[in-house]
Amino acid sequence: MKNIKLYVQEHKSRFINELVELLKIPSVSADTAYSQDVINTATAVKIALEKAGCDMVEICETPGYPIVYGEKIIDPKLPTILVYGHYDVQPADPLELWTSPPFEPVIKKTEIHPDGAIFARGACDDKGQMYMHVKALEYMTSTGNLPCNVKFMIEGEEEIGSTSLAWFVERNQEKLANDVILISDTGMISNSQPSITTGLRGLSYVEVEVTGPNRDLHSGLYGGAVANPINILAKMIASLHDENNRITIPGFYDKVQDLSDEERAEMAKAPFSLDAYKKALDLEEVYGETGYTTNERTSIRPTLDVNGIWGGYTGQGAKTVIASSAFAKISMRLVPNQDWQEITELFKTHFEAIAPKSVTVKVKPHHGGQGYVTPIDNIAYKAANKAYSESFGVTSIPQRSGGSIPIVALFEKELKSKTILMGFGLASDAIHSPNEHFGVFNYLKGIETIPLFYKYFTEMSK
Ligand code: BES
Ligand code: MN
Ligand code: MN
Repeated sequence: MKNIKLYVQEHKSRFINELVELLKIPSVSADTAYSQDVINTATAVKIALEKAGCDMVEICETPGYPIVYGEKIIDPKLPTILVYGHYDVQPADPLELWTSPPFEPVIKKTEIHPDGAIFARGACDDKGQMYMHVKALEYMTSTGNLPCNVKFMIEGEEEIGSTSLAWFVERNQEKLANDVILISDTGMISNSQPSITTGLRGLSYVEVEVTGPNRDLHSGLYGGAVANPINILAKMIASLHDENNRITIPGFYDKVQDLSDEERAEMAKAPFSLDAYKKALDLEEVYGETGYTTNERTSIRPTLDVNGIWGGYTGQGAKTVIASSAFAKISMRLVPNQDWQEITELFKTHFEAIAPKSVTVKVKPHHGGQGYVTPIDNIAYKAANKAYSESFGVTSIPQRSGGSIPIVALFEKELKSKTILMGFGLASDAIHSPNEHFGVFNYLKGIETIPLFYKYFTEMSK
């Protein structure tokens, strides 16, 4: 398939321009102010899939945002690859920290991306990575190189928990039948060391509220004599980790799968520089659970983090007040065998139990999902490995990621198929942060690598 490199070279400015247009639509699923933009993005994806050669593309309505479904079935006897991605993006705030507006994409060079990177919200997560698949399909259909059947399922609620996708998958098992699910919504180690993501963490997301007095109080008249909900909340949160940074919720670690020394030694072979890691984040020292390396802390170990905390007076100047209540949003990243609903329950029971009688505590569960580990002895992994070797000229290595794509475990349960995670982003691409970007090199390499995966997967399926 020598032509793919040539095809990408020939069409690269168009490929970039098309992605830039898609990135201009602010498809922020979390904020209803953007709901029309989210819907318009679905239409843009539909049109792109039609142009790329799908025989049938439809916008499937759901109780929430629509799912774009497309397919090209060339022969029912051939294998079918189901491509999943998402067209929604994270909110762009804080806006003032962007060096260029989040929905006005520009290409800028960086130290890591000397060929330039596209700066925009969603550039890497996941519009850029999703669109690589659309362009790879265009190449395969327009040059007679599509070796198997393909289905696309692109959703608009990934960043808010994929509720409608779960609804859709349960109702469309036959339509979505496939031999493997292919996703580019993760990352790789570096541009000179490609990796295949072999694990995702699960997630339990909760919100807590601590209420004290029935109204905000004068902090002089009442201070010292009533529980301050913010003080109490801070204390309760602090108590959730012990001196070794282990989570103190009873039962939290019960089902955690420990890796063998061999597996940990294998993991430690992946190239990683702690100095570069600290430097990239302006940190003097890293932090985490005793007894584990940085890479282990972010992949094979569960965590608990406050994502936001508020209450009381945060406006200009000073206001002497004891707030009536305080709030926090907390995420727990989970590892295989930890069940997210069970962990949510354990958290709730514990958090209510540690509350002093001077306050009342409410725990409100949000969304969650199970972790996932992909096999490395199946043909999907082998085909992906071969594809990377060919396009990068370097053998890829397996790596478990700390992020979550909860729908992957659900795919396995409902569709009985395995997922292969071919991510082309880098940790430094600032997904979910200001100045998100996606390397032009990464975008084009992705487009180059995907058709090779199709080819080898089809060959190995015979
Ligand atoms: N694409 C990310 C997940 C990801 C990124 C996995 C990099 C591995 C490497 C996805 O869009 C995401 O942000 N997921 C959320 C979970 C979801 C339930 C909101 C996450 O991980 O916080
Ligand atoms: Mn994503
Ligand atoms: Mn995301």
